[in-house]
Amino acid sequence: MQAMTEMCVFFRKHALRMVGLFIACHPLMAHAASAICTPIERYVSTKNIHKRLLDNLSTSVIVFDEALKLSYINLAAESLIAISGRQIQNAWIGDIFFNAEQDIEDIRNASMNQHSFTKRRTELHLPQGRTILVDYTITPLLEAEHNQVLMELHGLNYAERINKEEALISTHETTRELVRGLAHEIKNPLGGIRGAAQLLARELPNDELSDYTNVIIEEADRLHNLVDRLVGSKKLPELKEINIHEVLERVRSLIEAEVADKDILIQRNYDPSIPNVMADSEQLIQAVLNIVRNAMQALESPNVRHKTGTINLTTRVLRNVTIGAVFHRLAARIEIIDNGPGIPEELISSIFYPMISGRAEGTGLGLSIAHSIINQHKGMIECSSKPGNTRFAIFIPVADK
Ligand SMILES: Nc1ncnc2c1ncn2[C@@H]1O[C@H](COP(=O)(O)OP(=O)(O)OP(=O)(O)O)[C@@H](O)[C@H]1O
Ligand SMILES: [Mg+2]
Repeated sequence: MQAMTEMCVFFRKHALRMVGLFIACHPLMAHAASAICTPIERYVSTKNIHKRLLDNLSTSVIVFDEALKLSYINLAAESLIAISGRQIQNAWIGDIFFNAEQDIEDIRNASMNQHSFTKRRTELHLPQGRTILVDYTITPLLEAEHNQVLMELHGLNYAERINKEEALISTHETTRELVRGLAHEIKNPLGGIRGAAQLLARELPNDELSDYTNVIIEEADRLHNLVDRLVGSKKLPELKEINIHEVLERVRSLIEAEVADKDILIQRNYDPSIPNVMADSEQLIQAVLNIVRNAMQALESPNVRHKTGTINLTTRVLRNVTIGAVFHRLAARIEIIDNGPGIPEELISSIFYPMISGRAEGTGLGLSIAHSIINQHKGMIECSSKPGNTRFAIFIPVADK
């Protein structure tokens, strides 16, 4: 009797769950359950589903028709080759990927013989002189007796950039720990030296001798400031919703004042549709200012061949961007481009490290500070440089709303 009562309680408690399970498991019941949705409801939920799925993929997808003319491109591919689908609708493959005769030949053969293939680490040359490193897979599709070709591209520039970025961040952390320890050891005796020099200054019989104690005090202060800059700010960014154009305009007005009597022009190319980002505007101003000031200093150097130096500030909004290892649907990009002599080749791979400088009076901290600020904003800085064109690009994620 006791057992019977317990069984009844168990069934009453779990009956609903068991019915649900049965419906879900039994194919006929599952079919019946799905039939409960009206056709209209199902149409609404699956309307454009393929397009939406393709546009939300982080893999780049392009479809070419029989004549290898573009018939479809998803958002990730548009962003990889940095061109809008509308501009290249119906374009022939050879007008999208330049000097790619061998690739085109292989794709044509694959389409005719209905076989797929994958090519690894291929450089594709794009319009506007850009080159991307990709792995791509070709799959022929036979649609209503017409041959089509599906091309899936995986950009490797991103993957390599992620590795480089991670290595840089980890080296920064190690250096910061080392510098913190060292800073502590330097600052303690420095306080003692400064204090002793002040005491000594008070005991000196004449003012001329105090020039020497002033040198000790000033140099001790300089070293103290340097160590503080080296350690960097421990303050976490105070994130607020800001417009990055306000940041750029502030930097521009500061730099305009410094270049007023020089042959340096500051140009702007802003994208007004850029959404606000969550950032600490003071810190962001510091980061951008460090980069723009470097450009200005490079343009003042005697190696500049042309008369007028230009610093171009450009903003754009990007879709489907990977920053670090994190995928973001939207990101803001700030570019600072100058036509100066370029970064010396031996420096380019290490400019974001502290104390790396190509200038006699430089401390080599500007870019390392900019890098840690952008890093704290979950963003990323990239740099490329050749004589006449040095480009720093800052990427900051735009939070999903
Ligand atoms: N736009 C640029 N054009 C040419 N070289 C550059 C440019 N930006 C940076 N550099 C090189 O990178 C080096 C490192 O820059 P960084 O801002 O970190 O240090 P710095 O300018 O030397 O010193 P600090 O900024 O601390 O005063 C510079 O010394 C310079 O050689
Ligand atoms: Mg600098």
